[in-house]
Amino acid sequence: MARIDQSVIEDIKFRNDIEQVISGYVSLKRAGSNMVGLCPFHSERSPSFTVFTSDQSFYCFGCGSGGDVITFIRKIENLDYPSAIEFLARRAGITLTLDKDSKKESDNKRRILEMNREAARFYHKMLLSPKGKPGLDYLLKRGLTMPIIKIFGLGFAPNEFSALTGFLRSKGYTDSEMSSAFLCGISRKNGMPYDYFRNRVMFPIISVTGDVVAFGGRVMDDSQPKYLNSSDTPVFKKSRNLFALNYAKSACSEQLILCEGYMDVIALHKAGFKNAVATLGTAITPEQARIFKRYTNRVIICYDADAAGQNAANKAFRLLGEAGLECKIIKVENAKDPDEYIKKFGPDAFTSLMSKSRSEFDFRFDSIMANNDTDTTDGKVKALSQVVEVIAEFSGAAQREVYIHKAAEALSLSPDSIRRDVEKSISGRNSRQRKDEFRKIITETEGYGDRINPDAPKNLKAAKAEEAIIGILLLHPEYISEMRKKGTLPLESDFFTEFGKKVFSLMSELSMTDNFSDSMLGESLTPDEMSRLEKIKITRRQVTSNTIEILYDCLETLKRARSADEKDVGDIIKEKRKKKN
Ligand code: UTP
Ligand code: MN
Repeated sequence: MARIDQSVIEDIKFRNDIEQVISGYVSLKRAGSNMVGLCPFHSERSPSFTVFTSDQSFYCFGCGSGGDVITFIRKIENLDYPSAIEFLARRAGITLTLDKDSKKESDNKRRILEMNREAARFYHKMLLSPKGKPGLDYLLKRGLTMPIIKIFGLGFAPNEFSALTGFLRSKGYTDSEMSSAFLCGISRKNGMPYDYFRNRVMFPIISVTGDVVAFGGRVMDDSQPKYLNSSDTPVFKKSRNLFALNYAKSACSEQLILCEGYMDVIALHKAGFKNAVATLGTAITPEQARIFKRYTNRVIICYDADAAGQNAANKAFRLLGEAGLECKIIKVENAKDPDEYIKKFGPDAFTSLMSKSRSEFDFRFDSIMANNDTDTTDGKVKALSQVVEVIAEFSGAAQREVYIHKAAEALSLSPDSIRRDVEKSISGRNSRQRKDEFRKIITETEGYGDRINPDAPKNLKAAKAEEAIIGILLLHPEYISEMRKKGTLPLESDFFTEFGKKVFSLMSELSMTDNFSDSMLGESLTPDEMSRLEKIKITRRQVTSNTIEILYDCLETLKRARSADEKDVGDIIKEKRKKKN
């Protein structure tokens, strides 16, 4: 595979300041010479995600993600290495000459996006043509207007097997392109493509960058399935997109409204709530929760009023809360969903519904009260213990006090007794947390459950020495050529773990080229592996003297550890515990 020239990569990195790039995704605050924020790769409430501006890298002390600006883009945009380079080049206005493979892949994606756009135009034109009359009638009957139909680019797929496929073929798209974009199926009988969406009104799914990435199609009667949706394609992942976020993102600095259905979102937009979005026919995913976090701090969940909708709302509430978002739930009354509610009662009623939305505590409290029969002793005790747990989760004492009084009143108990229970629960929780943290440190330092370097627990001493060596060489790549000249450079086979071997052999190979930098490793390593290297580097940087003598010592240690008998992992933990106590 032809490598992208290192000097080009350095230029791209230079022109994409890590602080600026990351600021587009995470809101960063200054902390000394670094910047900190809430990690976009795991859910947290206090910031452990750190951007080191001086050496243009990032590291999350909570989940261990880390690396340079390229690794960041790979992870957050879910791109492979060449596409991440291309992404950053475009961002900085640099024209790239890509190697053949990645050019082919990105050309392929481009073509699929263009084809999707053609398809969306085709469906839209159909809707406005005589053939599309049933579709247009249906949408108008559902209360939509021409302007809103245009804004959302709604369309109609005729009841034919080769309307779209014929059109796209005439535009030069191949059967395999159409089928990879989920626009056609391939007949098992004769291998011919046929239109996947037929006799449905069409909802194009548009990404935040304005590309048509997928479609949903609804039948116009009660037949099943009600909606057909594109599956994941090279340009689309259901779990990472939200319907209408392309419109909502510029209207949502304060809050986003999450609902269940395409029709709900469109009805809300029409009524002036342009900050409404929906998932794409699935329950909300953690990835989507983090997308919300990129655009807003507050989400109002407004799902269907039936039991399934309310259950799903509960789940969404928890997930979004975990992602650090302030959430509220509203339930429409005397209507099955927000769409019907707005139609029946109008936008003002919806606004007042929103203002009456319950806070996190109220919501959880109400559901505890609803799920327990507090007229019985048993039910009351159960409700009390659940409420206490919920109150204990809030960190503000004054806030807890408000909730304690509310609970006391509802359960006719004294606030003092509830307060004592809450305090007990908090202290129990703290000690559990300390124990968990201790366990985590042990497992981490001992390399248990290490997905990146699964060989490490087999010989911890060797693995440690290896990490130190790699860390020193990452911080001082010039040592590699010095050692090579002296003939003291270790061999790949001197390393113990597969991970160590792989990293070292890459470093030693790449260091033959001019101006080696560790971003070059990103071409062959996964973002998680790059994150591990960042961790190793950070650990190493805390050791003030990274001299070449230490490096030679570590090489000795590695050799000895390899030949020594493997030490039983259990013993090491016991030793550690003794030391800690
Ligand atoms: P709803 O049944 O609430 O649909 O499903 P809706 O959008 O409100 O449509 P109307 O009002 O009945 O016309 C919510 C969402 O679940 C997905 C779609 O994304 C839909 O918008 N869904 C539903 C499917 O993917 N397939 C289905 O068969 C049904
Ligand atoms: Mn509905």
